Amino acid sequence: MAEVEITGLEKTYPGGARPAVRAVSATVADGELLVLLGPSGCGKTTLLRMIAGLETPDAGTIRIGGADITHLPPRERDLSMVFQSYAVFPHRTVARNIGFGLAMRKTARREIEAKVEWAAGLLRLEDLLDRYPAQLSGGQRQRVAVARAIVMEPDVLLMDEPLSNLDALLRLQFRAELKKLLADLGTTCVYVTHDQVEALSLGERVAVMDEGEIVQAGAPLEVYDAPASIFVGGFLGSPPMNFLEAVVDGGAIELEGQRIPAPPGWTAGPVLIGVRAETIIASGTEAADALRAAAEVVEPLGSATLVTALVGGQRLKVQVPADFTVAPGDRLWLRPRPDRLGRYDPRTGLALT
Ligand SMILES: Nc1ncnc2c1ncn2[C@@H]1O[C@H](COP(=O)(O)OP(=O)(O)OP(=O)(O)O)[C@@H](O)[C@H]1O
Ligand SMILES: [Mg+2]
Repeated sequence: MAEVEITGLEKTYPGGARPAVRAVSATVADGELLVLLGPSGCGKTTLLRMIAGLETPDAGTIRIGGADITHLPPRERDLSMVFQSYAVFPHRTVARNIGFGLAMRKTARREIEAKVEWAAGLLRLEDLLDRYPAQLSGGQRQRVAVARAIVMEPDVLLMDEPLSNLDALLRLQFRAELKKLLADLGTTCVYVTHDQVEALSLGERVAVMDEGEIVQAGAPLEVYDAPASIFVGGFLGSPPMNFLEAVVDGGAIELEGQRIPAPPGWTAGPVLIGVRAETIIASGTEAADALRAAAEVVEPLGSATLVTALVGGQRLKVQVPADFTVAPGDRLWLRPRPDRLGRYDPRTGLALT
């Protein structure tokens, strides 16, 4: 069992004005993949380095498989880390890079060779084993770093943006392979990214961080569909969730002088309406419960088309089918799906329930 349990973890760097990580608690179940997602500087790497034992927390505890490892040195923790900068050894071949940790453990040469071959196969590095890092592309080097971590078959794998140097296509392929690989190996994994598409596709659970804190954690689609705040809704998803200023009054949502029915139970008062681009039904013909809008920008994505529309003075993104005919300046009627509308407090930015 390699459940990772973090409680009340805190870290302020010497001279740091604010904590890099504050009051972070999270549990990663045995074999689960938790994705940590958040903007640059929010504390993702710091949190990972504390789990790895490379940074000392100011407060809080870290348990792996029930044992308190908060003060154990890194090498006594059964985990491997893939660093954001994929530090590979420049003067060792790919094979010796991958086998390095096993050699340090005094594993028999035969066994090292077999395991290196296995890990290289998984990461499609078989033909590169005799090369030196300088002779590899950034993406290949990154795969060496992943192989080097996986070959140790750790209970816990910590990965800090391991795909950041792969091109879009390789990243897409590798993401799916990595997901399968980790599931097959049953490794507990904490995976850091600031790419929200990667977070949604890879994670069994996603924890969104902001300024050192976990602001929401849950199943990817749960967080996507019901963000706890406008920060989360604006960060997770491409395009970000739309937020529109409105007033709820007498069972209706009033927005830019127009009225559409409010979902049941919505109380009167000013709100920010949270609505995802793909939950708005657009039409070129007038409808009673739809908002009158004008198309401003039309962006075909191939699988769908993204329209930036203006409702009065407010802008929103609407996803329409690829074969929907629309041009800038066209009149549009937009009907948000009532079951997918969210309400946020305009003062705090937090979800109203
Ligand atoms: N060694 C350090 N000394 C002082 N401050 C640091 C140190 N490392 C990180 N910080 C600060 O701590 C905060 C969190 O940094 P961290 O590297 O954990 O962010 P991150 O979420 O990993 O960002 P990124 O997505 O850019 O990698 C930042 O404000 C950063 O400037
Ligand atoms: Mg980082």
